[in-house]
Amino acid sequence: MDKRELLLQTRDKALEGGGKARIDSQHKKGKLTARERIHFLLDEGSFEEIGAFVQHRSKDFGMENQQFLGDGVVTGYGTVNGRLVYVFSQDFTIFGGSLSETHAEKICKIMDLAMKNGAPVIGLNDSGGARIQEGVVSLGGYADIFYRNTLASGVIPQLSAIMGPCAGGAVYSPAITDYILMVENTSYMFVTGPNVVKTVTHEEVSSEDLGGASVHSAKSGVAHFTAANEVECIRQLKSLLSYIPQNCEEQAPSLPYNGGEEERSALANLVPENPNQPYDIREVIEQVADEDSFFEVHKNYAENIVVGFARLAGRSIGIVANQPAFLAGVLDINSSKKAARFVRFCDSFNIPLLVFEDVPGFLPGTDQEWNAIITNGAKLLYAFCEATVPRVTVITRKAYGGAYDVMNSKHIGADMNFAWPTAEIAVMGAKGAAEIIFKKEIDSAEDKAAALAAKEKEYGDLFANPYRAAERGFIDEVILPEETRSKLIKAFKMLENKAVRLPRKKHGNIPL
Ligand code: HXC
Repeated sequence: MDKRELLLQTRDKALEGGGKARIDSQHKKGKLTARERIHFLLDEGSFEEIGAFVQHRSKDFGMENQQFLGDGVVTGYGTVNGRLVYVFSQDFTIFGGSLSETHAEKICKIMDLAMKNGAPVIGLNDSGGARIQEGVVSLGGYADIFYRNTLASGVIPQLSAIMGPCAGGAVYSPAITDYILMVENTSYMFVTGPNVVKTVTHEEVSSEDLGGASVHSAKSGVAHFTAANEVECIRQLKSLLSYIPQNCEEQAPSLPYNGGEEERSALANLVPENPNQPYDIREVIEQVADEDSFFEVHKNYAENIVVGFARLAGRSIGIVANQPAFLAGVLDINSSKKAARFVRFCDSFNIPLLVFEDVPGFLPGTDQEWNAIITNGAKLLYAFCEATVPRVTVITRKAYGGAYDVMNSKHIGADMNFAWPTAEIAVMGAKGAAEIIFKKEIDSAEDKAAALAAKEKEYGDLFANPYRAAERGFIDEVILPEETRSKLIKAFKMLENKAVRLPRKKHGNIPL
């Protein structure tokens, strides 16, 4: 055969994956093929494939007679909105997308290129796990990937979309990456599947209930985003990329911003008069951020804290906000872990942090204490203390107790701390405080309720405001809510060239 013709034919063959029948079956399940996913992800015509002719080396179980070009994963590079990304996309039509030695080598190759060239890696996962016919060679391949995931952590962004099964140790590669996106009803993640669960614990559970998208986005917190279908999932991937830089040495892309009306009158009346009445902190975020720019992360998990990306005057920022509309915005184990991870991501990748604070404290109780709220709450404290990106806090209402310290206080390195006139910065709420420090007086009073109310007012007048903290300089400025956007734009602009070095060390020992 003509040599050119041979190449062209081999190229065509590589595009066939596991063949028409398996592609049809993939489509019937509501899933796209590995190549279709890449097509939706990357800019038109930008994909350059690497390793399309790679084949496995296995000779056991008749594998030498079953060869498919590419060996179950499509790898290469291209652009998303003009920015370089590396991508691997597992092909379920070839041995169920299972990971062989050579499949792993292909993934490692693009990860190495991504590290050398400072660009994100996007993994589109759809795999039956370790290639069973290859045994330990396949396990070694996984470990080669885990090792690279870890070395790349904090150097280049790593994003994992789960678009099919992801079982066994295979889940640990996505787990080390920065963000996990799952597709509802067609993807699942677990360390051991329903059959093993049944044998060991006698629990009967479906794949969906054990490790589907809703379980991992709401219960375990393993998944940061869920999408109704694969196209939506890929759209989310692209949005996420738009807020983050190419690597830890760069800044996230900025959108052009021409200034404009910064006063936001809607903010003036958002906080209710009654301190026990909830309001939705997302309304504050949406008023403060550039229009339609808020991109929430971990939306369904630990809803008492809201985290996500937004733009302020075109520039990417990370927002952490207590949510008074859910459990009064209390800090607990899950919300601390959620926020800590987000803070560390933003700090790794030079994304300034904005904190909205309205927190009654840490959640009391045996459940929290026995499950280590101490260690887990400390994660958030540690993450903020260590963050060197520009950091600004706005206290909208309650800043009580240890939570005052933890939520990006001046004392732990925040750069600018604002408070609204509705802020209450104290060890605890006025009622609780009065009950403790005036216990004897209240108990001995004839009208106990009146005595408590009087003492509550006394404590409240003294502390349920931002002025004691402002006197000390713990608050830089008390501002009107409607001024917030303009103050924040100026503050982040002022902090643009912030440079802080942490003490020299190998690495810290975050309370994991
Ligand atoms: C080799 C595999 C495979 C695997 C699937 N296939 N998983 N081949 N190694 N791990 C093949 C099947 O033989 C089949 O080939 C094709 O892929 C499609 O699989 P089906 O079972 O027909 O598809 P489906 O019904 O959709 O079920 C998908 C599945 C199931 C749930 C993923 O295949 C499955 O349970 N696979 C095994 C999962 C597993 O236990 N993996 C090892 C986990 S341990 P044909 O030729 O018939 O089309 C692990 C360790 C990692 O991963 C350790 C890292 C530290």
